[in-house]
Amino acid sequence: MNTTGRSRKRFPLSLRRKPVAWHEQEPTWRDAAPRVIDAALKRAQARPAGNWYVLGPSRDVRPDAAYGRTVDGTEVVAWRDAEGGLVAGPGACPHLGAPLARSPVRCGTLVCHWHGLALDGAPFAGWSPLPAHDDGVLAWVRLDDRGGAEPTDTPPVPRRPPAATAVTAVYTGTGVCEPQDIIANRLDPWHGAWFHPYSFADLTVLDQAAGTPGTPDHDAFTVRVSFTLARRVVVPVIAEFTAPGPRTVVMRITEGEGRGSVVETHATPLGTARDGRPRTRVTEAVIAASDRPGFALARTAAPLLRPLMRHAAGRLWKDDLAYAERRWQLRSAGRFPG
Ligand code: FES
Ligand SMILES: [Fe+2]
Repeated sequence: MNTTGRSRKRFPLSLRRKPVAWHEQEPTWRDAAPRVIDAALKRAQARPAGNWYVLGPSRDVRPDAAYGRTVDGTEVVAWRDAEGGLVAGPGACPHLGAPLARSPVRCGTLVCHWHGLALDGAPFAGWSPLPAHDDGVLAWVRLDDRGGAEPTDTPPVPRRPPAATAVTAVYTGTGVCEPQDIIANRLDPWHGAWFHPYSFADLTVLDQAAGTPGTPDHDAFTVRVSFTLARRVVVPVIAEFTAPGPRTVVMRITEGEGRGSVVETHATPLGTARDGRPRTRVTEAVIAASDRPGFALARTAAPLLRPLMRHAAGRLWKDDLAYAERRWQLRSAGRFPG
């Protein structure tokens, strides 16, 4: 798709001349062929993640408290060391197994609340840290025995707009499904205007490029879509969906308002819950950028904007988790179509 040469409009909003009623829009089910989505999912699953998993929003790992998560059945605790660096490791105390996620952190040292064993992030008393990475937006942990792949020094963090010019918000939610159900939902862009009419309109998938393995940037769904502000007032953009890893889908706005902004969706398997069903955590980072002069002002209002951005993502994910959970239910019962 050639997008060069198109001039960017000064005013980001458009008025839909003839809004199409929800039931009169063009059906997308023929294009959203299960085999196309499945093939895109398989290509994503074949990409390496270096055994890295998103642990959660970086700002949730605070200096004064431990942060606990079960990742693919492994109990992990994280906290900030004395310099503010991210530390992660096994979540059970090496002494008698206390849940370290409930222990306090004092001056960068986690102190077990059962008998006072102190961990400063270095190996001690049989406890050893896990490789951890803070990319400024998300906290990651590397679990080599779970990932089972060739480990890499750093996680595959997608290309983002510079932090200094962006507003960032992170949504988290949990679904009864596996990571592939979350990823398959994101690799079905055709559902956008049908399933989320409150957010999207006039959606057309312009291009489906199934690139060669190892070149994820060339394997993308390119979508023209309008974000709905009111029934007739929309923000038209062109966006590209890529899956740079087996548990990540990135939507990047390539044309229109907010060009360069990304929405990263990361699916982290938590493990099997007591009800015998899997749980998967969605961590979605919206990194909004704009070169409009007014956006500098928006950045100063970021603390106010973040809850709104999270709210918008939460509304979409309420539906998308239902989609992913439904997909898992049908798959686990051997009734998934396609
Ligand atoms: S269980 Fe942690 S110090 Fe005893
Ligand atoms: Fe969706």
